[in-house]
Amino acid sequence: MHIIRRRGWEVAERAVTPEHLVLHRRSLLAGATAMTILPAMGASADTPAVRDYKPGRPLTEEKYATTYNNYYEFGDSKDIWRDAQALKQRPWTIKLDGMMKQPRTIDIDDLLKQVSLEQRVYRHRCVEAWAMTVPWTGFPLAALLKLAEPLGSAKYVVFETAQDKVMSGLDTPLYPWPYVEGVTIDEAGNDLAFISTGMYGKPLPPQNGGPIRLTLPWKYGFKSGKAIVKISFTDKRPMTFWEALGPSEYGFWANVNPAVPHPRWSQATERLLGSDERVPTQIFNGYAEQVAALYADRKTEKLFM
Ligand code: MTE
Repeated sequence: MHIIRRRGWEVAERAVTPEHLVLHRRSLLAGATAMTILPAMGASADTPAVRDYKPGRPLTEEKYATTYNNYYEFGDSKDIWRDAQALKQRPWTIKLDGMMKQPRTIDIDDLLKQVSLEQRVYRHRCVEAWAMTVPWTGFPLAALLKLAEPLGSAKYVVFETAQDKVMSGLDTPLYPWPYVEGVTIDEAGNDLAFISTGMYGKPLPPQNGGPIRLTLPWKYGFKSGKAIVKISFTDKRPMTFWEALGPSEYGFWANVNPAVPHPRWSQATERLLGSDERVPTQIFNGYAEQVAALYADRKTEKLFM
């Protein structure tokens, strides 16, 4: 007998996706449009696997997730989505360097031909205590590690994001540009760690990090760098953008924890984009079962800021 054993956070797609989205997606995947839309999201002509990860709450409506953004390169307002349209999405290359077998620069479309696309529905929790639930399209970060072949001595993966002339926020000298984020190799290999190239069944919009961003659902949203242009492997823990800016408020680990307040506000609850409902925040944003083991030997470190 063939038994499908779902992991704890996987559920049938109908259980989490509103009907109209399921139907819309099916028609997209089934019809000729799939051939035009999926390559734009970075797929080969193959249909991506649809793997929904149990979000336990309704999807955020696309109009809210795509018009309320944090993207400091475009300024510190949430209303940057129009300005972000000026960021050209192609051609786009990503430099792979540092402690890896063969450092090189790869074109995004060449990269996307070498991975299998999936859809994942993840909760997103910003450190500012707002949250959304989004269907992302992309591929596991682990697949990128496999392609990059880091050396056994590499301990961290560092992500640097775009600095482009259309980004007016780069003129603010206060900020330690470029935006840099990093994770350990073990975190990068965790099944939840994801590289997104699409959302809501469409190419990732520039304001949400198009054409390619990180998605780490158990960490505060600032760890998920947008518009990645460089991925490096190193044995030294990187200094990240927010840690450099405010070390008493932001750290390297930034795992979600309702019991550890930000120095200036509580993290106990979060506001859902769209409904503005306030709901309790969960440890590791509800993904403890998948990621808590990553930190078993790091109990003395500041894992939650
Ligand atoms: N990436 C870059 N390059 N610049 C940023 O300012 N903001 C981060 C993260 N990635 C940011 C970034 C923060 S604070 C959050 S909460 C999320 O992006 C917001 O993602 P969203 O706008 O898609 O909701």
